[in-house]
Amino acid sequence: MKLLLRILILGLPFFLIPMSPPLSPAAKAEEPDFFQPPSDKEIPPGPFGDLVRRGERIFTKTGQFATRYVGNDLTCESCHLDRGRKPFAAPLWAAYVSYPRFRAKNHKVSRLGERIQGCFRFSMNGTPPPLHSETIRSLVAYAFWMSRGAPVGTHMKGGGMYRMPPSRLPPDPFHGKSVYTARCALCHGADGQGTVSGHDVAFPPVWGPRSYNKGAGLAKVAKLAGFIKMNMPLSKGDSLSDQEAWDVAAFIDRQSRPPDPRNAATP
Ligand code: HEC
Ligand code: HEC
Repeated sequence: MKLLLRILILGLPFFLIPMSPPLSPAAKAEEPDFFQPPSDKEIPPGPFGDLVRRGERIFTKTGQFATRYVGNDLTCESCHLDRGRKPFAAPLWAAYVSYPRFRAKNHKVSRLGERIQGCFRFSMNGTPPPLHSETIRSLVAYAFWMSRGAPVGTHMKGGGMYRMPPSRLPPDPFHGKSVYTARCALCHGADGQGTVSGHDVAFPPVWGPRSYNKGAGLAKVAKLAGFIKMNMPLSKGDSLSDQEAWDVAAFIDRQSRPPDPRNAATP
């Protein structure tokens, strides 16, 4: 349905855009050996497989399968591309093996379930599901399944978001606006609101009331620039220059979005 919407909106040319995971040419040359997660076909029958499949459904259709915890028009997959498999889009296979981990955001050693709660609160502008809820248990099972055979205790190539080298010139939101118009507006809309029909997110909003809030990871310009550099335009990762990625991130960062809920808590 999501794909159908995308095709309807973009018309035939979109068929010509390859939908396979866009490995950046640079990343390909230097790091040919990203971890290969198991395919969906290998999910076993029985209670474990059921939980994994449920986790995948929640991940790709979060508004539909975890409705009461979601406060915007995004899905987990809006940022963790290819159902959580794409390198440099914080893939789940790398995430699973790097928790528990210390996080400066809350000064504690967090478990994976707690990290996922954070994405619900900030990136999904919603309410964190309880740790023992079926929602968190399913998502953890999905990540666990995807990390099958991954090495523990080392940083995995392609894990997390891409870390941008520092910007040589200060990021320029005015130039960023023209990059946005030329390379992004086709899908995300000139007004940044994307296209969403019910629970089907064809193109997610990149700012405004239905996007991630100001406490989210992508609300930091450097993290957003790194995400954009490796992943956007969709299926054309690593086609913007570093400066274009910084500039368009600075432009998006200037637009309005929901407040950081941590500030709302203090009167
Ligand atoms: C608006 C974008 C966005 C959305 C939507 C989003 N996340 Fe995230 N997520 C991030 C960012 C950014 C990070 C931090 C990655 C980093 O710091 O390298 C992250 C980190 C994570 C991590 C830890 C990854 C790691 O390697 O440490 C997990 C697990 C995760 N998210 C799961 C989810 C789940 C499950 C959902 C849906 C309920 C979700 N995320 C929705 C942006 C998002
Ligand atoms: C061909 C369509 C297309 C183009 C062009 C495109 N995007 Fe995206 N973008 C998407 C889709 C689709 C997703 C969500 C991924 C998914 O659901 O599989 C996404 C996700 C995002 C996200 C994370 C989710 C959110 O809503 O914040 C950001 C940020 C983003 N895009 C920024 C950009 C920027 C900046 C550009 C231009 C440089 C761009 N995109 C160009 C289709 C596109």
